[in-house]
Amino acid sequence: MNTANTLRVRLARKHAETPDIALFELRSLDGASLPAFKAGAHIDVHLPCGLVRQYSLCNPPGETQRYEIAVLRDAQSRGGSTGMHALEEGEELSISAPRNHFPLAEGVPHHVLLAGGIGITPILAMAHTLAEQGASFELHYCTRLRAATAFAERIAASAFAQRVAWHHDDGEPSQKLDAAALLQSPRARDAHLYVCGPGGFMDWVLTAGRSAGWSEDRLHREYFAGAVIDTGGDGAFEVQIASTGEVVPVPADEPVTMALARHGIEVGTSCEQGVCGTCVVRVLEGTPEHRDMYFTDDERAKNDQFTPCCSRSCSARLVLDL
Ligand code: FES
Repeated sequence: MNTANTLRVRLARKHAETPDIALFELRSLDGASLPAFKAGAHIDVHLPCGLVRQYSLCNPPGETQRYEIAVLRDAQSRGGSTGMHALEEGEELSISAPRNHFPLAEGVPHHVLLAGGIGITPILAMAHTLAEQGASFELHYCTRLRAATAFAERIAASAFAQRVAWHHDDGEPSQKLDAAALLQSPRARDAHLYVCGPGGFMDWVLTAGRSAGWSEDRLHREYFAGAVIDTGGDGAFEVQIASTGEVVPVPADEPVTMALARHGIEVGTSCEQGVCGTCVVRVLEGTPEHRDMYFTDDERAKNDQFTPCCSRSCSARLVLDL
């Protein structure tokens, strides 16, 4: 853990938003202010079990006396969700300062916010910010069950309640989200879209946007889990360290970061799923096979950087700027 960039906080409050989603309120140990953040920011949480996970901040960004995050209990948890739900009020934790890969665009005429389930967390902070700025926006919130919708009371009582359209899988067909119609509406012209939620939901929304002619620079997204990838056809390749010339073989069944670590070359990692960007390394030669959710399509097409925690190589060797 890089202690220079970590903050010690206490879990001041843990609250069940729904049977499966817990809200965590984090405060500094001495009551001092926490670093300010902007809508869309996330923090790394260092769990007692040693895992590090990223969670979006969902409280109003003007607040510095606390950070709020919400975590879904995940039956497929690799340890992060389970570890978070096991925390008890009063426990101390290390977290990173906020980082933001999902910022609001500035100076645009209208914002369309789309949340699927737990993807409401960064979207909620965005709604708070836009409402405070008096900006034009609408929020569409899709959940499975009306009765198990996180932050329902908070949103209903907020200053932006009238901007929110609710869409529940167990509701009337007429209230279901029609993404194609929404994104083709005249109001969508020149608007920016922000989507967060399960991968299938996000792909559905982004496909609807592209089909309606939205340009990539107006489609903003935040994934919170890496894509499920078939690794059955993975092969071995080599990476070369540009500064020393050392060549490190990467076996078919091992991430690049692990192969490098066995040779004493440490690359910092966090999510290990291609989501957070912590491990990004510049590629000087060769063509990476990108498996991340972090870069934009344009960034991936340049092939000059990759995420060695999960990505592979199309070429027999990659020369890395290490
Ligand atoms: Fe998060 Fe590689 S560790 S993208």
